[in-house]
Amino acid sequence: MVSAPCRGRLRTPFGLKTRRKTRMLIRLVALAALFGMLFGFDEGVIAGALPLITKTFDISATGEGFMTAAVPLGAVAGAILAAMYADSLGRRKVLMMCSLVFAFGAVAAGSATSEEILVGARLMLGLAIGASALAAPMFLAELAPAKYRGAVVSAFQLMITVGILTSYLVDMVLEPHGAWRWMLALGAVPALVCFTGIIFSPESPRWLTMKGARDKAIEVVSLIQPDLSREQATHVVAEIEQAKAAGGAEPGWTAFLSDNVRPLVIFTIAAFVLQQVSGINAVIYYAPIIMKDAGFDGSSSQLAATVGIGVVNVLMTVVAMFVVDRFGRRPLLILGFIGTALSLVVISFAMQPDKPELAPLALTALFAYIAFFAVSLGPLPWLYMSELFPLALRSRGMAMASVANWSFNFIVVFAFPVVLAHFGAVVTFAIFGIFCTIGAIFSWFYAPETKGVSLEEIEMQHSPAAAT
Ligand code: BGC
Repeated sequence: MVSAPCRGRLRTPFGLKTRRKTRMLIRLVALAALFGMLFGFDEGVIAGALPLITKTFDISATGEGFMTAAVPLGAVAGAILAAMYADSLGRRKVLMMCSLVFAFGAVAAGSATSEEILVGARLMLGLAIGASALAAPMFLAELAPAKYRGAVVSAFQLMITVGILTSYLVDMVLEPHGAWRWMLALGAVPALVCFTGIIFSPESPRWLTMKGARDKAIEVVSLIQPDLSREQATHVVAEIEQAKAAGGAEPGWTAFLSDNVRPLVIFTIAAFVLQQVSGINAVIYYAPIIMKDAGFDGSSSQLAATVGIGVVNVLMTVVAMFVVDRFGRRPLLILGFIGTALSLVVISFAMQPDKPELAPLALTALFAYIAFFAVSLGPLPWLYMSELFPLALRSRGMAMASVANWSFNFIVVFAFPVVLAHFGAVVTFAIFGIFCTIGAIFSWFYAPETKGVSLEEIEMQHSPAAAT
């Protein structure tokens, strides 16, 4: 495992000359973020595929629900599995397996000959998505230098939004041909790109250090941060070792209950629960139905508005990448919750039945809602999740947060049509608005600031040793 140290400006262990090393971080970021695209693609693609699938298989309403839910359900299991194996096998191997399962699941879904096979394939896709949604941000946060970490991890969220937009566009192009099989199977393409890329990637230096492969860790740090001298790279690894030592040996689950760590667990879980109950996936999955309720007649205008939502989501996530390391996490999170809460009040007002003249107001407010979400509530829980937990507890802590994310994703996506049918859009969006208001108050009191602080410094403040 441990390889010989590199000397001077000679070739690195990965066969690249030093002057070409600057590209390595960018390549790794692009690769890990591509897993975010798989996530987003699969979230969005079912919106356009489902009406066609129901024609092919004559599925009941419950069957439809189960088919949609299969992804978040599989993802809950995937997050747990990734947490179990991200430490023993390493982040890289877990991501490698995810990409294979993803490619297989996409092809199986696209060629399914029965409803049961399709549900099974979507469960498998969910498994891969849940596992990679845990391992990829972890890999990214552990690779990135502290001053870029916010932007680098936000790249993962950006690719989720790019995946959603891509799936909306794919749906729009393929829908007139009834080609739902292609809609689902196309997910195999980015999955195979990920598989190829991850084969040629180095492992996370923090994981290598955790496994005692010190020299290898130093090589990876020099590879991804070519501006550091050999001594500086050694110092980075020494800091990781120090943080690891401060964390104590193999802390058990009780470490999560320690005074230092418990608030982090509660905060990250709450951040994801609030992200989901803000109603984001009601909008992402059901945008055309919402547009119809708002008074937009005609499927083409509904679809165009849906694509518009996808575009705003992508653009504002790009903005997030620029501001997250400048303004900091805390002010951005508070602003995001206040902005989404206010937008939801306006959406709720504009969705009054029999008032089609309010449709443009509803659409504008929906765009504002997505913009506030994308600049804040979208990327920040992922970022916090990947940077707050001490190394020794990181994968398990992230798993708990991911399970919360996927479980509430599932609950909201299922509850939305029922609540909408019973109480109408005005009440439904007002409920989301109340949750966002709670989110603003919660962030005001509890959101920590981690801007520009290294993972090791964060770790020093939250050592699980206190619990053991
Ligand atoms: C959420 C997803 C959501 C997406 C929308 C992510 O941060 O976890 O559930 O669909 O943002 O962009």
